[in-house]
Amino acid sequence: MSDIKKIKDDFLLKLKGNLDLNQVNQIKTDLFGKAGLISSQFKMLGKVAEKERKKFASDLNQVKDELQNLISEKIDDIETKEINQKLEKEKVDITLPERPFTQGKIHPVSQVIDEISSIFSEIGFSVEEGPDIENEYNNFTALNTPDNHPARDMHDTFYLDDKKELLLRTHTSPVQIRTMLNDKPPFKIIAPGRTYRSDSDQTHAPMFHQVEGLHIDKDINMGHLKGCLNYFIKEFFEVDKIKMRFRPSHFPFTEPSAEVDIGYEIKDGKIVIGEGDKWLEVLGCGMVHPNVLINVKVNPDEFQGYAFGIGIDRLAMLKYGINDLRAFFDCDYRWLNHFGFDPIDVPTNYRGLSR
Ligand code: DAH
Repeated sequence: MSDIKKIKDDFLLKLKGNLDLNQVNQIKTDLFGKAGLISSQFKMLGKVAEKERKKFASDLNQVKDELQNLISEKIDDIETKEINQKLEKEKVDITLPERPFTQGKIHPVSQVIDEISSIFSEIGFSVEEGPDIENEYNNFTALNTPDNHPARDMHDTFYLDDKKELLLRTHTSPVQIRTMLNDKPPFKIIAPGRTYRSDSDQTHAPMFHQVEGLHIDKDINMGHLKGCLNYFIKEFFEVDKIKMRFRPSHFPFTEPSAEVDIGYEIKDGKIVIGEGDKWLEVLGCGMVHPNVLINVKVNPDEFQGYAFGIGIDRLAMLKYGINDLRAFFDCDYRWLNHFGFDPIDVPTNYRGLSR
């Protein structure tokens, strides 16, 4: 029997056995490695008598191909077997019930804060924030509200110490002071946030939300204030026309001061904003009092401007037809499910709240 035939028969037999990957690789080296049996046969080619050389080479190539194919098949088989064993072991039981997927909702107040911020940012306002715990100076004194001023009682303040130095801010107006003390004019900011007063009924909660607005520059007048608020209200309620009235009022930090009412009517039991002959108060505003500017080291002869304070909860109630303010803070999931908003990025496997 020729060497080639013997190699072939030997290795065919070996490869039929139950081998693991290492053993097959060893066979591969034994045959085709540098000193491998097949490789050695190729090296002998030159020594074979010329008339037998052609046949020898062809037989050798044939056996080489055959064994190589067999080895690749064997490796494939072993790998497939390994994968199948792994799959078998790590089998996922898809008959188990799925875990409930809960998708939160955005609270109407958060939604309205986002809407307000985006409307004002389109006309050049940036968003500022201040702390809920304020000092008496920023909340009252710097805002031109002296110690004996009735506004301090009017606000029903939650004081945090006996000296009445720290308090829960009664409005977002102290953010005006913080902003102006921190920077140089011009200023064009809004400041949404939580505010607190000792008050509770269907339309008042001890914690509520306001958004403050402040625009200070050279030559800012009440016309700018009116234009800005008119633009905002129309954008917010998504109407082309709005009836608005500026009612003279008083705030210590503005002169002149006004409260703004918007027109509405009730149609089929629902409030329709912008039409009708009923009036609804939505905000307070005015031209920033020179004393406030002096308190924050801004020269009132050079700079002036307007400010406003809007009740966010009230706007949310009006826009989304919610009639009891207290529900905002009850943490009732059924309420939130009904009045809340879906986040923009709702996952594709969203199946609603499973409660
Ligand atoms: N701070 C006022 C309040 O809580 C609202 C307000 C009125 C804010 C007039 C202002 C303003 O900035 O100019 O009722």
